[in-house]
Amino acid sequence: MSEEKTDLYVPPAKFCLHSSFGHTLLKSWNTPRTVTAGNILYPIFVTAGTDVKTEISSLPGQYRWSVDRLPELLDPLVELGLKSVLIFGVVSDESLKDERGSYATIPDSPVIRSLKFLSERYPSLLLVTDVCLCAYTSHGHCGILKEDRSIDNQPSINRIAEIAVAYAKAGSRCVAPSDMMDGRIGAIKAALRKEGLDSTTAVMAYSAKFASCMYGPFRDAAGSGAKFGSRANYQLPPGSHGLAVRAIERDIAEGADFVMVKPGGPYLDVVAECAKIADKAGIPVAIYQVSGEYAMLYHAAKAGAFGLEEAVMESLNGMRRAGCTILITYFAELALKAIKNQ
Ligand code: PBG
Ligand code: ZN
Repeated sequence: MSEEKTDLYVPPAKFCLHSSFGHTLLKSWNTPRTVTAGNILYPIFVTAGTDVKTEISSLPGQYRWSVDRLPELLDPLVELGLKSVLIFGVVSDESLKDERGSYATIPDSPVIRSLKFLSERYPSLLLVTDVCLCAYTSHGHCGILKEDRSIDNQPSINRIAEIAVAYAKAGSRCVAPSDMMDGRIGAIKAALRKEGLDSTTAVMAYSAKFASCMYGPFRDAAGSGAKFGSRANYQLPPGSHGLAVRAIERDIAEGADFVMVKPGGPYLDVVAECAKIADKAGIPVAIYQVSGEYAMLYHAAKAGAFGLEEAVMESLNGMRRAGCTILITYFAELALKAIKNQ
């Protein structure tokens, strides 16, 4: 036949791939790291007052909630299989903020009230708390500052540890420091131990957290932007690989139960590298698909670039493939529905 002359290369049977995934089950044997409900950790924003539900304009579809209205958000999600939330406090009254974030630990703070409320209403939901100062400090930085406005590391980690203990006491079984101060994992572990809480409270370290422009929508949501300077003195330079490795190793050595890479999508090389290290230590890796990634996917889908569900599931699959066990995503509802309908 005439075509045969043009068949310059005929692939040998042993080099064919299609045979390996020509059936749904064969396909699933080749994709072992799928996304399940248990992988999803959903970030939520809680604020003071009652009967509050305010849409966050930079994160369309996400809201700030007062504690009493959280069931409206969480009842349906728990029904869909949600197993954990990551709680952020939002302080809209600037006069409650000070140099050391005192409001974070008052018994009446939104996070502490939400912990008490949620542990009663959803006894098996894992309540993870973001531990940081930036939402509570007058200057908006993640630590305590010296006169010259540089970070004062020791008082910062002392304070971070106090906040972690307050959250643990209120019912958070996993505290997640996002501040990036040196030595805070060790400080938190020691403070939890002093209170007899160390064996019942996990520490999820935001270890490889890069100084990213993709936190912009979040800072609007949480009102936690720095009033001056930048976070580049304590968050990692985006081009660095070695610092991420050192941060992961250090935090594991200080006793982190879980380590995190953040942002997600643009940093999967870091995840793959860090997962190797964490695997050796038996530590699961979390990834944070941050607010800017949410906004990118949301707006691109809205502009008709692709279907949102497909794009979100593909991105989450990529994170699983890179080696993450815990996927922190604002797309929790969409993902849980997609998983259910599979
Ligand atoms: C606070 C904190 C930030 C995020 C999580 N915890 C913002 C920041 O470091 O400025 C980012 C989350 C997101 O963008 O979705 N330390
Ligand atoms: Zn912070």
